[in-house]
Amino acid sequence: MAATIDGHVAHPTQAWEFGSKEDRRRMDVLREWADCLIVSRKTLEHDNMDLRVRTKPHSKRHPQPVIVMQSLRALKNDLRIYKHATTGGELWISIASSAPELVTLAPALPTNWQVHTFTNVREIVQALAERGYRKILLEGGPTLNGLFFTENLVDEFHLTLLPLLWGGTTHDRAVITAMPLPLTRFTLRRAEKRGNELFMRYVRKPTSAA
Ligand SMILES: NC(=O)c1ccc[n+]([C@@H]2O[C@H](COP(=O)([O-])OP(=O)(O)OC[C@H]3O[C@@H](n4cnc5c(N)ncnc54)[C@H](OP(=O)(O)O)[C@@H]3O)[C@@H](O)[C@H]2O)c1
Repeated sequence: MAATIDGHVAHPTQAWEFGSKEDRRRMDVLREWADCLIVSRKTLEHDNMDLRVRTKPHSKRHPQPVIVMQSLRALKNDLRIYKHATTGGELWISIASSAPELVTLAPALPTNWQVHTFTNVREIVQALAERGYRKILLEGGPTLNGLFFTENLVDEFHLTLLPLLWGGTTHDRAVITAMPLPLTRFTLRRAEKRGNELFMRYVRKPTSAA
């Protein structure tokens, strides 16, 4: 996640494109490491990201894209991901309904995309692990992050501090949950200044509940 110095992680009107070339390069290093890249439908539609390793579009090493959604509204049909027809991916919908009926919700998706259903995000992680996808990169947004934190599924947190602020009254933050979580502690493993940005890697300390 990237945050402004006044704590914003979401802009009230604009897509989130505030990171530098260096921030995108570091995100790509994580994407190259990852087996899977999880992102919410809302963030994908809002920011219309390319879900591949963007600096190496011709590489064979792209993470499996995993889109998580809740409502039964169909995905927007003008997303960048549709242009990468050779890249398969997965759509996970949080209802207990049969997958074949739901395929019609995403008619524009390339045929090599799979549709699954779930009731708890833990099931997504388990299903991915069973298929050998164990290095999972979660790119948000904050509400989806909250679902994974609530289930103790996050080991590390990568934070970029951006030299920006815009104040306002919005209450966005990197992790949003309906109820406060038990206090979660981290070890700061790395903090690097590059240009005007600060890049930090936090590793979660074990808790008795983990
Ligand atoms: N600064 C950063 O690094 C960064 C990174 C990512 C995103 N963002 C920003 O974050 C903003 C969006 O954040 P957000 O917190 O409003 O939304 P979000 O976390 O991106 O989206 C919430 C998503 O989770 C789904 N969802 C909600 N409750 C669920 C549940 N109980 N089970 C399953 N799925 C559930 C929703 O599905 P439906 O869509 O079907 O309702 C929705 O797509 C955007 O402005 C984006 O630019 C910033």
